[in-house]
Amino acid sequence: MRRKLIAGNWKMNGSFASNEALLSDLRAGLGSDVACEVLVCAPAPYLMQCADLLSDSDIAWGAQDVSVHISGAYTGEVSAAMLADCSCSYVIIGHSERRAYHGELNELVAQKTLRALASGLKPIVCVGETLEQRESGLTNAVVRAQLQAVLDVIEADALADLVVAYEPVWAIGTGKTATPQMAQEVHAVLRQQLALKNVTSAANVRILYGGSMKPDNAQELLAMPDIDGGLIGGAALKAADFLAIVRAA
Ligand code: PGA
Repeated sequence: MRRKLIAGNWKMNGSFASNEALLSDLRAGLGSDVACEVLVCAPAPYLMQCADLLSDSDIAWGAQDVSVHISGAYTGEVSAAMLADCSCSYVIIGHSERRAYHGELNELVAQKTLRALASGLKPIVCVGETLEQRESGLTNAVVRAQLQAVLDVIEADALADLVVAYEPVWAIGTGKTATPQMAQEVHAVLRQQLALKNVTSAANVRILYGGSMKPDNAQELLAMPDIDGGLIGGAALKAADFLAIVRAA
């Protein structure tokens, strides 16, 4: 049985003051018996604030990107070892905004995934098609190529630490959500592909859905057999909404 993971992706939002308020509301609202795993992915300058405010809680924290380099003259980059130093558990890799605005290609995403794994971080590898690709019938081919680049470079036993997030680009921040059936179809394709790497581990890999997941659609999405959690953007910035999604899991 896969334990669901509800992950907030704060993107480039927050401040010390607003984070403190959000995290304290999340802690108060979660209580002690949470069925799913809860994670917030904060901007790098706030990771140590998360460590300070969450280390005695059931909420984990992680980053939104990682450098492909180990260390050295790469101005502005943050290495996997640095994220591990901030006690991050997870790191989002290959988010569609990184792919679209920073030109990240599948091979780079794969190499970043290796870096994360080498530093003991669990990568959340994002895949997803654009509207144009969906309308041209390319959805499965696109997400398969995105995932395959990663599967080609990792060891089979690394699947134990891998999380995949299916985020249709047309659903991110738009209020348009894939129907549960549409999402499930893609998740099943991804699960089959993982199984070609290792059948037993593939059954345990969490495949998250992301793209306008909200309190009013979370339950039906999370009820699908291969949807093992959510990667939540906008709704992760409001404690009440994020908590409602956690409860739906
Ligand atoms: P959204 O973002 O929930 O605001 O659509 C999801 C994401 O980009 O991870």
